[in-house]
Amino acid sequence: MEAKKSKTAEKIFQRVLKNIKPSKAEARETVYNVNKITSRLKEIVPKSVEIMVVGSIARSTNLSGDSDVDIFMLFDRNVSRDALSKKGLEYGKMLVDPKKGESFEIKYAEHPYVRAYFKSGIKADLVPASKVESAESMATSVDRTPMHNEFVNSTITERQRDEVRLLKFLLKAHSIYGAEAKIGGFSGYLCELLIIQFGSLIGFLEWAAKTKMPVVLYPTMKKVMADDLETSKKFSRRFVVIDPVDINRNVAAAVSEESFAKLVLIARSFISKPDISAFYAKGFSSEKTNSMLRKFIGESGLDLLMLEFEIKDKSAEILWPQANKTAYKIEDILEKNGFAINFSISWIEKRNAFILVAMPKQKIGSRLIRGPDVFKTHDTAQFIKKHSAGMGFVIKESTIYSLEKSRYSDAEKIFRDIAKGKVIEKHKDINLKNAKVYVNRIPERHSGKVYSELRTKLNLQGFGGQ
Ligand code: CTP
Ligand code: MG
Repeated sequence: MEAKKSKTAEKIFQRVLKNIKPSKAEARETVYNVNKITSRLKEIVPKSVEIMVVGSIARSTNLSGDSDVDIFMLFDRNVSRDALSKKGLEYGKMLVDPKKGESFEIKYAEHPYVRAYFKSGIKADLVPASKVESAESMATSVDRTPMHNEFVNSTITERQRDEVRLLKFLLKAHSIYGAEAKIGGFSGYLCELLIIQFGSLIGFLEWAAKTKMPVVLYPTMKKVMADDLETSKKFSRRFVVIDPVDINRNVAAAVSEESFAKLVLIARSFISKPDISAFYAKGFSSEKTNSMLRKFIGESGLDLLMLEFEIKDKSAEILWPQANKTAYKIEDILEKNGFAINFSISWIEKRNAFILVAMPKQKIGSRLIRGPDVFKTHDTAQFIKKHSAGMGFVIKESTIYSLEKSRYSDAEKIFRDIAKGKVIEKHKDINLKNAKVYVNRIPERHSGKVYSELRTKLNLQGFGGQ
């Protein structure tokens, strides 16, 4: 980056940091409150269980106002997973005192754990794990976390901790921060590794603006491997970041290609013209979502078809991927029936899931069904016989297609049949029978959420200054 731009960037960073870096007073208060919690917990657990604060609070990479604390209970290695999981829940619950206005809920990760809410406003995840010295002796993925703490704290500089905060805040502004299935973005630990690897936020953005895929990063050696197809294949991902504490783990496993591509666009925008607007996405008025949605439908000329259906009371990490897969399945069915699609979005809200498909208005009379490539197989007779009742065959390149009357003339009919349970079988936790179907007329109660999902999908928050 040229000197002038880099000066502008630096000024922007300092301005943003004023808002997002916890003040000395806030940091002191957090330490005080966290210490109170850990000393209470230490009185509950036996001596052999070690209490450790991990995550961004322990690494000073937390954002101001974010009061999530990750507290681990480390059990001896000879304690079985079952026992540790049971004991962990028990100790977590014992810590919470309803008389003091404290409460808890049970959360599910690899095993269940207690999330406790304190009067100080602190929300603490109390996670049981095994004490391990190396990745080889690891039983569960949370066992790595104390090692992450050690790696980051022994490698990162003070300045870089602030750069991690900036990166997290930047990603949050564009809805790509967090490894949960809903986001498919960058986790806190990944942000730390990226800053360590590239030295600074600008260093990381400069790299991202130019990178190609596949790419494998080794933060320990600060090595970037382009075209490391073998490693890319091993993790079935085109963007891989090898965990410094475990070479068999890709820290970027959760990052979707869509999120990574979005980051690249943000980086290109910032590198070419550093602008504070990259950190503060364009907002919108939540009262006007209904009319904005109508305006979008009118201007785009697209049809918005939406399904709403009930789902079980299960963990979001299980349900989100299922909802996404179902959306792809619906896209596939529509395409097979000859319809063109612009994009689809799926999301979950409490006990309901939504799938929205945006497509050009279209009436379909007939569709092409793909047959074999004439030069790749001798067995073309079977396809021709099977489709002989059609309206003819078309040969494109060397592939043969049959032109046939389509079963559905408009997409709404497919959606209505889906809601009758006809087109897609019940699969795992998704049952589309009795789903509600909306075509363009989105009820007022859903318009806020639909519009905000649409904004994210269409990147209406912008990529930055450009
Ligand atoms: N962790 C992990 N893999 C995940 C999620 C969490 O290895 N998919 C570990 C990381 O070591 C992480 C810690 O658990 O630092 C705590 O997780 P979390 O609170 O999600 O992230 P933080 O790093 O604390 O970041 P934030 O500021 O968002 O809380
Ligand atoms: Mg945390």
